[in-house]
Amino acid sequence: MSLTLSAVRASQETETRVALVPKVLSSLSKSGLEILIESGAGQQAGFSDDAFGEAGARIVNEEEAWQSDIIALVTSPSDEEISRLQEKSAIVGFLQPLDDPKRISTLAERGVTALAMELVPRISRAQKMDALSAMASLAGYKATLIAANHLPKFFPLLTTAAGTVRPANVTILGAGVAGLQAIATARRLGARVWGYDIREAAREEVKSLGAQFVELDLEIDDMQDEGGYAKALMAAKAEKQVELLVPHLASSDVVITTALIPGRAAPTLVSKEAVEAMKPGSVIVDLAAATGGNCTLTVADQVQIHNGVQIFGPTNLPATVPADASFLYARTVSSMISEFMEEGEFETNFEDEIFKSACVCHGGQVVHERVLGLI
Ligand code: NAI
Repeated sequence: MSLTLSAVRASQETETRVALVPKVLSSLSKSGLEILIESGAGQQAGFSDDAFGEAGARIVNEEEAWQSDIIALVTSPSDEEISRLQEKSAIVGFLQPLDDPKRISTLAERGVTALAMELVPRISRAQKMDALSAMASLAGYKATLIAANHLPKFFPLLTTAAGTVRPANVTILGAGVAGLQAIATARRLGARVWGYDIREAAREEVKSLGAQFVELDLEIDDMQDEGGYAKALMAAKAEKQVELLVPHLASSDVVITTALIPGRAAPTLVSKEAVEAMKPGSVIVDLAAATGGNCTLTVADQVQIHNGVQIFGPTNLPATVPADASFLYARTVSSMISEFMEEGEFETNFEDEIFKSACVCHGGQVVHERVLGLI
């Protein structure tokens, strides 16, 4: 009998994405899986039960969906949902292992194997499973649109009979996946764009998108680690960085912040002083709001107005583009599941770097060192 794989409906009201979409079902069926979709799971993302049915899925009720051998989800299951899981089943999704390690213990107690999409390593073989990058790209795009929508100015240069409107000055702090997409989007909208990062490699990437690189006299070495991520600045350099950024931010109409050091609270880049130096009406969109924010005045999922500067702290922008976010997410999740399907069975393979990095619990134990360190 085939193993069953189900996509369940997200229990959080604000979550609009679904972990499987009709287009990915045929490749999963080829791996020997029977696909079950909880009725209505794709509704908010625009994927009807009929569309899933036509792609070969069986539409089931909530209870049956949670009883599946493998469960694909977008966000961590609630305690009640965990209690419905079959022992020895596998779950794959964004499980917030570093933010909510207790939930991983609960999953371990239930006896399930859990793969956290956040922990997929950034290596070439795992690119197709890199759900974080796929979502960050959408967030960078949407952050720029939020800024353009709320700025009391145009982004592009506009020459009219009544006069010329100067383009907006847009600064993007952190030029990783989200930052580069924000830069590209702001450029497409015609703004003058600056990008800034502490990794040397980012300089060329910023320039290749037609933006200028913000040069700060910080006297630091390249801050890129072996995994391609940034290393944290020493406290004195971090303070200096905040100070040196103030004049540049003061002349920006829009600041989009995306700075991240994996596993740490978001680094502060925009101080209260910097906000107070900006013109009223300017917009800050802080993508790091969920991990404390890159701006000291950010409040997660709220809009703060300080001296007329509007500070947005959205934490789930991918959910505002649910069709494409679900499509991209489903591609990464299905690649992950297919990778470990072997002759119709889901193989737990701790010899494999991707499996080992992403697996947080198995055989009744929390098996991930970083998660164990947090419990
Ligand atoms: P990433 O790791 O690709 O990029 C982060 C960049 O920040 C790196 O290039 C790094 O060098 C840079 N950085 C770190 N410290 C810095 C500093 N002190 N000064 C300047 N640059 C610094 O990360 P990614 O995937 O682009 O995500 C960026 C942020 O967006 C993360 O906080 C992530 O959680 C968030 N995010 C937010 C979403 C939302 O809806 N709000 C959705 C998806 C991601």
